[in-house]
Amino acid sequence: MLLGAGELGKEVIIALQRLGVEVIAVDRYPNAPGHQVAHRSHIVNMADGRELRAVIEQERPHLVVPEIEAIATDTLVEIEREGWTEIIPTARATRLTMNREGIRRLAAEDLKLPTSRYAFAESQDELLNAIEGGIGYPCVVKPVMSSSGKGQSVIKDRHEVDAAWQYAMTGTRVNRGQVIVEEVIRFDFEITQLTVRAVGESEKVETFFCEPVGHIQVKGDYVESWQPQPMTPAALAKAREIAKLVTDNLGGRGIFGVELFVKGDQVWFSEVSPRPHDTGMVTMASQTQSEFDLHARAILGLPVSTALRAPGASAVIYGGVEARAITFEDVDKALRVPQTEIRLFGKPESFTRRRMGVALATGRDTDEARQRAKLAASLVRPVKV
Ligand SMILES: Nc1ncnc2c1ncn2[C@@H]1O[C@H](COP(=O)(O)OP(=O)(O)O)[C@@H](O)[C@H]1O
Ligand SMILES: [Mg+2]
Repeated sequence: MLLGAGELGKEVIIALQRLGVEVIAVDRYPNAPGHQVAHRSHIVNMADGRELRAVIEQERPHLVVPEIEAIATDTLVEIEREGWTEIIPTARATRLTMNREGIRRLAAEDLKLPTSRYAFAESQDELLNAIEGGIGYPCVVKPVMSSSGKGQSVIKDRHEVDAAWQYAMTGTRVNRGQVIVEEVIRFDFEITQLTVRAVGESEKVETFFCEPVGHIQVKGDYVESWQPQPMTPAALAKAREIAKLVTDNLGGRGIFGVELFVKGDQVWFSEVSPRPHDTGMVTMASQTQSEFDLHARAILGLPVSTALRAPGASAVIYGGVEARAITFEDVDKALRVPQTEIRLFGKPESFTRRRMGVALATGRDTDEARQRAKLAASLVRPVKV
């Protein structure tokens, strides 16, 4: 049972079905991308523990695979304890990572990993005190429960503190006023270190690393990614050491997207998804087994290969329009770009900044792949029906 049936869940479902697995897709709205390819689907508010438990008890799946963060994770913890189904990768991993406080304290305070300086605040006054008492300007303010950059802003002086607080309150998933404020790290680039915990030849769970994925974020949302991102040997070793420590601690089987900031040989931990990562969509072009194949294989206890197939890139196709129904023009032009494919997610409703699809490309190197992916993405034109 997939909890969350967006574009990432849809690909996990397809990968599982290719291995003959019966898949049930759950999302909060009808006709979500994953609903369209699953054996059965349910529409459930997964943030509600009672509703979540009811659907899991009704279907009694062998595996429960959360695809989104906004889930009643305490219910998953209870169900895991009851022992009649398995939560992927672990209920604790989903609980710790749904809240920025849980994962940040684990990484920085328990595992002593390098992170940006940070503090938590529950009011405007606390926020101002935290910044002026140590975090400094510029800094990033984020709701503790949010994703894709929602409610996130960078502030440069004290006049912007109130606006950042207000904006965070509009972008949070839950009705709880808490933010994290972080110093801005002036990194050379940021990566996602896709890390797989899967059964290896030893017949025990081992750790496998994909080549680093480089990416560009605009307003906290990913617009472009490529693989491999060149790194110094020292930075790569540190990235993998950090990724191993975090994923060993979270445990279970499956793929993790470990987000890291890199400057020269220095590496900072930022956050981690215990599931496929949006920037990892590039692996559908660049790896022999995509991050979705890897997740499917890992959770089924099957062997994995993280081999690179070719340098690749992905570029996001945004809705660009607000519409109940859209159609895509010039798909043919996009597909004439060499070594390029597109994925249109089939989301029933379009918003200007909603991710509706992605262009994927390979090339001689990542520069060529990026040019192709960006060109193809720019050619596809979503239009209102
Ligand atoms: N402390 C920071 N310093 C510099 N850039 C940051 C910092 N925190 C976030 N960012 C930028 O914002 C993006 C989104 O932030 P992130 O914490 O990953 O939020 P989300 O959970 O919404 O993905 C990051 O990928 C990075 O580009
Ligand atoms: Mg992130």
